[in-house]
Amino acid sequence: MTLFSERMIAWQRSHGRHGLPWQGTRDPYRVWLSEIMLQQTQVTTVLEYYPRFLARFADVAALAAASEGDVMALWSGLGYYSRARNLHRCAQEVVSRFGGHFPPSAELLQTLPGIGRSTAAAIAAFCFGERAAILDGNVKRVLTRYFGISDDMAVLANERALWQRAEGLLPVANPREAMPVYTQSLMDLGATVCTLRRPVCLLCPLSADCVATHEGEPERYPVKTKRLKRTQLDLWLLQAVDEKGRVWLAPRPAPGIWAGLHCMPAFASREELLALLPPLEHERVVEHTPFMHVLTHRDLYLRVVTAQVSDSAFAGGGGAEGGWFDEAQWPALGLPAPVRRFLEVTGS
Ligand code: ADE
Repeated sequence: MTLFSERMIAWQRSHGRHGLPWQGTRDPYRVWLSEIMLQQTQVTTVLEYYPRFLARFADVAALAAASEGDVMALWSGLGYYSRARNLHRCAQEVVSRFGGHFPPSAELLQTLPGIGRSTAAAIAAFCFGERAAILDGNVKRVLTRYFGISDDMAVLANERALWQRAEGLLPVANPREAMPVYTQSLMDLGATVCTLRRPVCLLCPLSADCVATHEGEPERYPVKTKRLKRTQLDLWLLQAVDEKGRVWLAPRPAPGIWAGLHCMPAFASREELLALLPPLEHERVVEHTPFMHVLTHRDLYLRVVTAQVSDSAFAGGGGAEGGWFDEAQWPALGLPAPVRRFLEVTGS
């Protein structure tokens, strides 16, 4: 039987994904940017954002020199905004600590904001051919199935053991050429063949000695006991519109959801929202049908209340940084995706 890594590399060459804009480069800036974008976002979405981002920030120095607002505006719609803030901080550290060059090892890459062990390994493997193992969610699935490991991956010691297994599988010969292909092969197999539901074992290069395939129930793996308990949250948003049809928007405070993005003033209850308006206005507000926005751990019910206000009298929300913005200014602002959609649909 051929080695695990050899089978994976051969499979990648014939059946893996090719021609994506972040492949075929060893430029750490480009690879790093794609890895961060791909962490929680699908390839099709990243294909839209990635070229736009690179056109605006051609290298790490340009990104480091940008304002946080500009970075957030370009990230707007990709979600998980802590990624964008870390991206910006990381670029600044690459400039200040490493003279504008990403450090050439997984060990040092991991010391940068937003780069965890697996992402560091991916960058080091793709750019420098380092023999570093990745172990993201997809790869955990592939390996627990292949080895038939039913240990609870929520237990740190079990996860550590899996890292060791992953390291034991790395190709040995010619790492500079082999590591990028091998690393991509694990990602692609996890994304296209060894999927969470209905894995296609018939097409898998590992099926001949995959324990889970032989057992006949690959979906049993991986085992992870920590269940995410979803919660629900109502968020009341005040769409204050002034005489000129402009909407009041203010950057959201950190920490918290949407930190740094511009948003309508947000409240936990209708009463808190109305307290910001003169009592005479309470009868005249328009309450929109609530709509749901799904986050990782909770469902957000957004309840927008529209009120006509006088721009000189309105006290705002979100402190001194808020302001009046007309429709033409919204595209350039970093707005949470559901807020952007709401504003675009309702106009001002
Ligand atoms: N997910 C994370 N990194 C990826 C990559 N380089 N290609 C495809 N999907 C990925």
